[in-house]
Amino acid sequence: MRILLLTHAFNSLTQRLFVALQQDKHDVTIEFDINDETAQEAIDLFQPDLIVAPYLKRAIPDSIWLKHTCLIVHPGIVGDRGPSSLDWTILNHGNTWGVTVLQANAEMDAGDIWASIEFDMRDATKASLYRNEVTTAAVQAVQQAVEHFQNTEFKATPLKQKLISAKGKLRPLMAQNVRRINWQNDDTAMVLRKIRCADGFPGVRDELFGREVFLYDAHATKGLQGEAGEVIARSGLAICRATVDGAVWIGHVKDKTHHHAFKLPATVLFADKVQDLFEVPEAEGYQQIWYEEDKDVGYLHFPFYNGAMASQQCQDLLAAYQQATKQNTKVIVLMGGADFWSNGIHLNMIEAAKSPADESWANINAMDDLSEAIIRTTSHIVISAMQGNAGAGGVFLARAADEVWAHEHVILNPHYKDMGNLYGSEYWTYLLPKYCGEDHAKRITQARLPMGVGEALDLGLLDAVIQGEKAGFIEAVKSKATTLAQQSNIYDRLQKKEVQRDQDEADKPLSAYREEELRRMKKNFYGFDPSYHVARYNFVYKVCKSRTPLTLAAHRSMSLNGLRRAA
Ligand code: COA
Repeated sequence: MRILLLTHAFNSLTQRLFVALQQDKHDVTIEFDINDETAQEAIDLFQPDLIVAPYLKRAIPDSIWLKHTCLIVHPGIVGDRGPSSLDWTILNHGNTWGVTVLQANAEMDAGDIWASIEFDMRDATKASLYRNEVTTAAVQAVQQAVEHFQNTEFKATPLKQKLISAKGKLRPLMAQNVRRINWQNDDTAMVLRKIRCADGFPGVRDELFGREVFLYDAHATKGLQGEAGEVIARSGLAICRATVDGAVWIGHVKDKTHHHAFKLPATVLFADKVQDLFEVPEAEGYQQIWYEEDKDVGYLHFPFYNGAMASQQCQDLLAAYQQATKQNTKVIVLMGGADFWSNGIHLNMIEAAKSPADESWANINAMDDLSEAIIRTTSHIVISAMQGNAGAGGVFLARAADEVWAHEHVILNPHYKDMGNLYGSEYWTYLLPKYCGEDHAKRITQARLPMGVGEALDLGLLDAVIQGEKAGFIEAVKSKATTLAQQSNIYDRLQKKEVQRDQDEADKPLSAYREEELRRMKKNFYGFDPSYHVARYNFVYKVCKSRTPLTLAAHRSMSLNGLRRAA
């Protein structure tokens, strides 16, 4: 079938749907929902059988839904309507939630129901639930709806019919006055729910050090107390604020009035205010990196917010990694975080730096140091285990390990070009030919599309896919890593690894790869072409796209090719 994904942005859910529908052998293309005219133009060009809208911020116009079947993915259970579905259920501490696929009609979220799936809720941020439970349910529900669409006997159920028994209802946009934290009254659990139900967007409006800010990335603390509402400590990137029955760490904040009006670590935004605060070591406070050991295997966890890795974070991770290589273990597993393995250099921190070019340079060098240390490790077999997605340099950093394992739902974006034609480093020019072969390396670098684990496995970006519930991923990785560490040939394998590394080094030293990559990166950062700086600015400030990139809008590039051929 020809399926047009009409979407506000190519977000994680849309990316997974795109991959899944393509795997199901549908002909899929994407159009950003910019205005009625461009949407209509896409329909005229592509002539879709079906329009699926995974993520919209406005209603589909009558002129479109009256003529075409348009299926909307709504992140709520049957009967739920309104723009703050997940926010309400997190705030109200719901046990289960769901996704409904309904047909667009004159009333928002009130069309006939084509499919719905429910899932158990988890204590997590809205963004994390969206990237995991909602996305998985959405893919299943859309696949069901597509099957129903192909079955001429199927009749979608009118919402009115379902409303008799449905638990969902119409709920308004959750305004900031509902989200507001009453520090003198709300207990820690409520403060966490209020921040989590607004994280990643829009954040909870609050006041810190006399400035109006939006709060994100909240975690419960252990054993800290103070006067409710007071900032009482700092730890790593976070500050600690007392509640009526404990305290919370707040890792990230946004000050919309500041000249850097995007999310930044709390201790960076308030660098001048936090110096004298009581400092809690990261291991007991806001912990971004931790190591655990079990049966000859060391596990390094690094759940950096949004998978972004600033210079200091890369350096801290490198130090932790070097420490791990000194332990009497045989395997090291790089676990990343639950939502992201890594998304490469930290674009927000770069944007906020005095010299973004210098900070880009420092950040890519810190990433390269880490990548190099992984590549040069001959004392251990190193595994990258992806619980969550990876993008840009994060994918190539993972490939620096001997093996890359990923959960079946992981999506990779192994490309840098969307960031203003960034050349990229992390030794990708060494790693891709080595693990993927020259042809696949070319395919990977030329594509600018997300890929699922099947394709990544075929191309050599992954070595193993771990199936099953996400909740069981860590246990499955531990079992696999333990088996690997206990294999009788592990010492042979380590010896071979050392010989291969020496051979590779003799063929072309790592320093030469790095030098060549960084020469190109220097041009991106300091050269005459400002594309990278412009793209980074647009990314960080979330500047809306005014057109769909041709890499996504296959229907537009097809027509362009047709025109070129005709000319
Ligand atoms: N630096 C800083 N923030 C980053 C980031 C990075 N490298 N990568 C992602 N983020 C942030 C996004 O701004 C977004 O922030 P929000 O919480 O305010 O919404 C959040 O992480 C999630 O990203 P989003 O783009 O919504 O996720 P996605 O799953 O839809 O897309 C990517 C994933 C990887 C395709 C996309 O995030 C991306 O292109 N990131 C930039 C990668 C890059 O170019 N890195 C630099 C070169 S190494």
